[in-house]
Formats: sequence, C-alpha cells, structure tokens
Amino acid sequence: MENQLEQQSEKRKRVFSAIKPTGNPTLGNYIGAMRQWPAMSDEFDCIYAVADLHAITVAIEPKELRENTKRMFALLIALGIEPEKNLLFVQSHVTAHAELCWLLNNYTMFGEGRRMTQFKEKSQKAPENVNVGLFDYPVLMAADILLYQTDIVPVGEDQLQHVELCRTIANRFNNRYSPTFAVPEGRVPKVGKRIYSLSDPTAKMGKSDGNADGSVFILDRPEDIMRKFKRAVTDCDNKIVAAKDKAGITNLLSIYASVQNMSVRDAEKEFENSDYASFKKRVGEAVVETLRPIREKYDSLRRDDNALVELMRSGAENARRVAVRTLEKVYKKIGFVRL
Ligand code: TRP
Repeated sequence: MENQLEQQSEKRKRVFSAIKPTGNPTLGNYIGAMRQWPAMSDEFDCIYAVADLHAITVAIEPKELRENTKRMFALLIALGIEPEKNLLFVQSHVTAHAELCWLLNNYTMFGEGRRMTQFKEKSQKAPENVNVGLFDYPVLMAADILLYQTDIVPVGEDQLQHVELCRTIANRFNNRYSPTFAVPEGRVPKVGKRIYSLSDPTAKMGKSDGNADGSVFILDRPEDIMRKFKRAVTDCDNKIVAAKDKAGITNLLSIYASVQNMSVRDAEKEFENSDYASFKKRVGEAVVETLRPIREKYDSLRRDDNALVELMRSGAENARRVAVRTLEKVYKKIGFVRL
C-alpha cells in the first residue's frame, strides 16, 4: 500500500516556483499569482521557495531583507501552502542552490546572459549598481529549478525568458554528459487577471506605487483597505459596466469578480441598480473579507518567531535532501573527486 502510494506520487508532475522577498505583496500579486499556489498542490508535487539570494542583486538594507524574508515565508503559509503537504523553504538555507549556480555558470554563455531583457532593464534603472550578481540572476534561477527535477515552473510573463535559458542550460549539460536534469516548462497562469492601481487604473498595481492609496497590500488593515476603495478613481457617468473607456470601474469589477469567484458579467448584474459610492464600499468589503483570514493566520504566525524559524528549519532540511541528490550527480559527472 505504501509502495503504491509512493509510486503514485512519483507520477505526479513536479512544480517549482519562487518569489523574492522584496517590497510589500499586493492584492494584484495575490489575484494574479500567489492565490494559485496553494491550489496547485492538489494536482502537483509542489516546491516553493523564498528567493532571498535573488533579493540582493538590487541594493537592500539588512533589516529589510531579514524582515521581508520572514514576512514572505509566513505569508505563503497564511495563504494556505501547508508546510506538511508542500516543500516550502528559504533559498539561502539550502546551500546547494549557490553551489549549483557556480557549476552552471560554466555551461552558460556570456552572450546568452547579456541578451536577457530583465538584465538590460535593471542595468538601465540602476547604472551605478550593475553588479555580476544581477548578470548571474537567471543562472541562479536555473539552479533553483534544476535541483528539484522540475517539470513545470509557474511564472509571470516577464520570467519566461529566464525559464527558456534554464532549458538551454539543462539541455547543454544533458548532452555534454548524460541525462541529469529534467527539462522544465514555463507556464504563465491563464486565470491570473491583471489588477491595476486604484488611483491610476491604466498602471499596474505595484509593490511600490507612487500614490500610496493606489495599491492594496495583502496585509493591509481593514480600515486602510476601505479608505483606498473609497478613494478609487472612477468616472462620471454612474454606470457600473466593464468597458474600454471605463478603466477604473472595469478594474473594480474584475477585483470584485476575482475575490467572489464569479464572472464580470454576474458582477455587473449584481450592481445594475447601484451607485458608485455603494459599489466601491461593497468591493472594499469583499476584499476585506477575502484577506481577513490570511491576515489573521499571518499575525498568529508572526507572534512566535521561534516557531516560524523552526518551520524554516524543517522546510530547509526536507529541501536539502532532494537537492543534494541532484547536486551530487552533477559533481560526479563533471569529474570532481567526492569524499
Ligand atoms: N525571478 C523570479 C521572479 O522575480 C523569482 C524566482 C527566483 C523564481 N527563482 C525562481 C521563479 C525559480 C521561478 C523559478 O518572479
């Protein structure tokens, strides 16, 4: 019986994804990506990491890195990723990631790295800090993915190019030696609706929005969420319908539909006879109710720092066991003397 179960779980496809502990995660991050993570563990064998090593490619204060890492780890659990059912860990706690990154550097061409859009964009944004880590970012990402023999990598559109590079590196290594890595497939979740800023509904809701009331953060207090929705930009024709020239109302409708798990059509019907003020109030309430259990779970996890660190420790131990198997194979194939 146990054997059968094991075989069954062996056939399940493996998913790996990671998120950087930078900024403050928004309602947009939640609806567009993070909400999908816990649900995937019904179908797949899921491994999730807080990518803290990736966070230092852009200058960050020590205090901020520490706090963001704990916050992101606790938030993922609060979202419903159960550490007992999934592998959840902090990247820097599993040293195999940095080790494999070094090894893979030697199977990655300089020209391939130089072509990465994110590298070019981030270099332009901070010309005073174009460090080698920024250049190496996608190779570390390849190490993250390849250590776990990953089949599927759920990512945002902007990260697909990095998954492509990861496939190139994996194939190159497999061909040079013998099959070592699973070659993963990048997947952009279709369900993820794009959520826009409440103060400028033509711009993405960002972790660092210029206008503080434009972004709703997953961990916002109810009164802040209500205030932000009350101030949300609309228009002046008082019709609650989704339309191209009604960006504000359309955004609010898609937020409401997402958190209520209904279609935008049905949301329009519900507010047929409503006015803007009560509509915005109702959207705010629905968001508050959706985020409430997450924030409560999060608060309780943050009340006990030792317990949180213990969860990090056991997650890291479990991840290490899987990662080391791949890492050892790689060392041996290249020709390193192992003890
Ligand atoms: N670079 C990813 C992002 O910014 C985060 C990340 C790090 C990642 N390592 C990964 C995503 C491995 C998928 C797989 O979103």
